[in-house]
Amino acid sequence: MPADGPADRSRRDPARFHRESLNGPAGPNLKEHALGIERTLFIVKPDAVSRRLIGRILAHVEEQGFRLVEARLVNLTREQCQEFYAEHATKTFFNGLVDFMTSSPVMLTCLERENAVAYLREVIGVTDPAEAAPGTIRKLYAESKFRNSVHASDSPASAEREVKLFFGVAALAR
Ligand code: CMP
Repeated sequence: MPADGPADRSRRDPARFHRESLNGPAGPNLKEHALGIERTLFIVKPDAVSRRLIGRILAHVEEQGFRLVEARLVNLTREQCQEFYAEHATKTFFNGLVDFMTSSPVMLTCLERENAVAYLREVIGVTDPAEAAPGTIRKLYAESKFRNSVHASDSPASAEREVKLFFGVAALAR
């Protein structure tokens, strides 16, 4: 995360950060705001659901200016998980990842915000919590690189594919 990322700015002045996240630094600019709105997939993973962290984690993203547009608590099937993580199919950790993600319920959500995809990746922090920046969700809650509490789409193309996979094409509409 950059030295002056959202976690740093929100800690210094949370109210101002939240206001600017929604309206831009110079106040409301509805045209600009409407142009930059994106949707992205966000998952609260089994390790965090089982530690009863759903509420705290969703509050965290809401405080960063995200709006929840879809949410469902589900037990993923192995087939759903294999399709979702298809890009990792050849990795050594793939079967373990599918075992973990199907071990107990996950909270699937679709979040909306200006610049949602890139911004949410900053808010969650890098894959390994040991390397994640202070104030990020993974630094605050993740147990390990594997049990890392949350997933967020890594590009606009992934966001489109992932939101469509779990919530259908209607969830991509503004
Ligand atoms: P996620 O953001 O859901 O995307 C792919 C997941 O694979 C990642 O979070 C981690 O949970 C997991 N992952 C990535 N790299 C490794 C690794 N080297 N060892 C174990 N799990 C990993």
